[in-house]
Amino acid sequence: MSAPTPTTPTPVHGTVRDAADHYHRHGWCPAPFVFGEESVAALRSRVAALGRQERPEVVTELGSGTARAVHGCHTWDELCAALVRLPELVGLAEAILGREVYVYQFKVNFKPPREGAAWPWHQDYAFWSEEDGMPSPDAVNIAVALDDAHAGNGPLTLLPGTHRLGLLDLPERTTRSGHWRDHVSADLAYTVTPERAARLSAEHGTRALVGPAGSVHAFHPSIVHSSTDNLSDDRRALLLITYNAVDNAPPAPTRPAFLVARDTAAVRPLDDPRLTPRPLG
Ligand code: SIN
Ligand code: MN
Repeated sequence: MSAPTPTTPTPVHGTVRDAADHYHRHGWCPAPFVFGEESVAALRSRVAALGRQERPEVVTELGSGTARAVHGCHTWDELCAALVRLPELVGLAEAILGREVYVYQFKVNFKPPREGAAWPWHQDYAFWSEEDGMPSPDAVNIAVALDDAHAGNGPLTLLPGTHRLGLLDLPERTTRSGHWRDHVSADLAYTVTPERAARLSAEHGTRALVGPAGSVHAFHPSIVHSSTDNLSDDRRALLLITYNAVDNAPPAPTRPAFLVARDTAAVRPLDDPRLTPRPLG
């Protein structure tokens, strides 16, 4: 594991602070910036090509050869590598976590039309704590919509405020569960029961991340979330970057590096002319 390295401080704008406050209160926030059409088009065509590769990092939908997700491609694709260094994304993660960050996980969930299978209710921190030994939920997911998300194509759906509840419904003995595929398929190893999720959604309400391609949201590792099968004709690709605080790196992870990064050096922010988020409003 590399030692934390100093980075050039990323400028923090008032709107980023507002977003971070919203995140701490509700467990999620919209980013104060969006990606425009050209950036989205560049990412879409790149991840489509990555999803066609045959390699362990590309996981297919059960019973078909269609790509469900591609994992860890920020380490082998230069556009994805450039994305994780954008000052807007790094600045939002640093504002939320209050310290330097590295990329813990990177994935694109394609949710292909008519066959993209659901993600049951779960908390990401259950996996990161139980499987990887992440010390605390001081990490943040940043979700970049690569397609328009609407009620019909299985949008990511959050239960606001549930990030404060700690880990729910873990089996009694939560040692490492077996194969990592149980952490990326529709049949997840650690779930929140449907009964519990129904009670929580009655109490907390739900927030579906619907909106145009290019939208960006952040959400907490402990927030309860899910998404339904995509029964529509529209793909719903969502790119997810998990930034972790450098001082919160798991000491001895064993899952594949494409699920748990071994390089824990702080990200050095860098602009890229192909990926140009613009401020909202
Ligand atoms: C996730 O739970 O990490 C993603 C779910 C989705 O892509 O809908
Ligand atoms: Mn999740």
